[in-house]
Amino acid sequence: MIIKEATFVGSFVKLEQYPVPDMPEIAMAGRSNVGKSSLINTLLNRKKLAKTSSTPGKTRTINFYNINHHFYLVDLPGYGYAKVSKKERESWGGMIGKYLSHRPSLREVVLLVDCRHDPSEDDKEMYGWIQQRGFGSVVIATKADKLSRSKLMQQMKRIRNQLGMKKEAVILPVSALKKEGVDPVWEVLESHLAPISFEMPPLPEQGEDE
Ligand code: GTP
Ligand code: MG
Repeated sequence: MIIKEATFVGSFVKLEQYPVPDMPEIAMAGRSNVGKSSLINTLLNRKKLAKTSSTPGKTRTINFYNINHHFYLVDLPGYGYAKVSKKERESWGGMIGKYLSHRPSLREVVLLVDCRHDPSEDDKEMYGWIQQRGFGSVVIATKADKLSRSKLMQQMKRIRNQLGMKKEAVILPVSALKKEGVDPVWEVLESHLAPISFEMPPLPEQGEDE
């Protein structure tokens, strides 16, 4: 994908605030610190469009990016961040749950899992929600630069099995640090980005209404 324009639209926490769903949308989900914001920057070839941090819990809101006036890329807040209160965790669940079920323009939700680790219970639950809504065609194994090739392959197989991914779903390794693995990700994302089409009702036969 050639990125002609990538702009930050805003950070939101409520359905009413989200942009009008007039373009296809793809969201990135995953535990805190897994590398969602870094992946967004790498995909868009921008250094600091999405804010990243080595301290988990950087992204706490739902952040929208407008890409080429063609689609929205959405950075979801990470889960599994130990220091949040029960109340905050519940509000996170409500925000994500509502987001996932009330965006008619949502075309795919990509789950990111750190390639070094087996999926957590939270990852499995999240992927369950994603699958329930008919998404989950792609999972990304992040920080691929941290493992040897053979260990990476072995670990991707484990992640695939433990998440219960369907046969037709793919798991792709990416290193945001080394900017590796980006093209196959774009290929899958682009397959979900056909423009929103409005079907015109058939015109009445001439003279029918007169
Ligand atoms: P939250 O906003 O807290 O949900 O986290 P996030 O998923 O957006 O993670 P973020 O992109 O902020 O990255 C977290 C840390 O992981 C940062 O220190 C990044 O530099 C590091 N990181 C991200 N991607 C990679 C990668 O591909 N390789 C390596 N080695 N480090 C990475
Ligand atoms: Mg983030």
